[in-house]
Amino acid sequence: NRKSRILGTGMAVPERIVTNFDMEKLVETTDEWIRTRTGISERRFADGDVTNSSLSIQASEMALKNAGITADQIDLIIVATITPDMVFPATACIVQDKIGATKAAAFDLEAACSGFLYGLAVADRFIASGMYKYALVIGTEVMSKIIDIKDRNTCVLFGDGSGAVVVGPSEDDSRGLLGFDLGSDGAGGKYLYMPAGGSEKPATHETVEAREHFLKMEGKEVFKFAVRVMENASLRAIENSGLSFDEIDFLVPHQANERIILAAAKRLQLPMEKVQVNLDKYGNMSAASIPVALHEAVTQGKLNEGDHVVMVGFGGGLTWGATVMKW
Ligand code: ACO
Repeated sequence: NRKSRILGTGMAVPERIVTNFDMEKLVETTDEWIRTRTGISERRFADGDVTNSSLSIQASEMALKNAGITADQIDLIIVATITPDMVFPATACIVQDKIGATKAAAFDLEAACSGFLYGLAVADRFIASGMYKYALVIGTEVMSKIIDIKDRNTCVLFGDGSGAVVVGPSEDDSRGLLGFDLGSDGAGGKYLYMPAGGSEKPATHETVEAREHFLKMEGKEVFKFAVRVMENASLRAIENSGLSFDEIDFLVPHQANERIILAAAKRLQLPMEKVQVNLDKYGNMSAASIPVALHEAVTQGKLNEGDHVVMVGFGGGLTWGATVMKW
């Protein structure tokens, strides 16, 4: 069993910044409410020809460059998303074509905000088994296309962006991805979902009029679930890695709510300078939140070689995921 390692990271966000003050003009809300209840100040929304695949391509090209790998060396592309360009073909296939990953297998993976960590676990196993050498794992969302701008409970929370990593065999067996904890609670699917647009309820005039092509969420229920699983999944992934929580140096959490992140940091006894937070700038980018936060931690020089890093997230499904890596 080979160990796999993240060899390079990349990110992309749309240019247009939408501040809380801009949201005040669209829906009955205030900058004060959004900042104090969530920690978000602004987010990015995609305009014009900016799509899930165009953001994915930009982030991937940066990750490839930072890893020193060319697209034709990539064996596998996984795009984790709930907002693909189309239901099919997979956004991963669009990326495969446009970046010139001529020998890559490609598919999309749907585990909402946990999707990037699910994708990372899949890539890790393909590399560990020796079947593939290099994988591109991308988490991308254009949440602005599925939020209901008339629903203040949800529309202020989300943003658009993309994060990508190149995963490959670790040259040094002590470094790399050490352990995972993935899980789901399908009974909680009703707390976070999009009713129409799938095969059960295809688009009709009625579904459009009923605003069923937008995300629905019971925020309080998701909040309770999130606080619980962020702790439990992190602790299980740490245990699966053969470590104890006092050996953890850095936390890259899913960026949904500042209060959820603070609770997780407290449980792992990490000071906030050891926790990557960017939801103030981007809001919740679902599957893109963790890889973008990781990329920013790397480029801001916050990770030292040998640091034990926890990445943890939760989301629709309901799902959760956590991993520990030695950087
Ligand atoms: N502006 C002003 N007031 C608002 C807004 C808003 N944007 N949104 C809600 N309110 C009001 C509510 O109507 C409510 O008013 P009421 O008491 O008169 O009914 C009041 O504010 C309080 O609402 P609560 O729901 O109690 O607020 P809460 O403290 O629970 O915060 C929040 C809501 C931010 C959504 C929180 O529950 C949360 O973060 N939940 C987790 C959500 C999450 O993590 N989702 C990510 C999943 S990721 C994925 O897979 C896509």
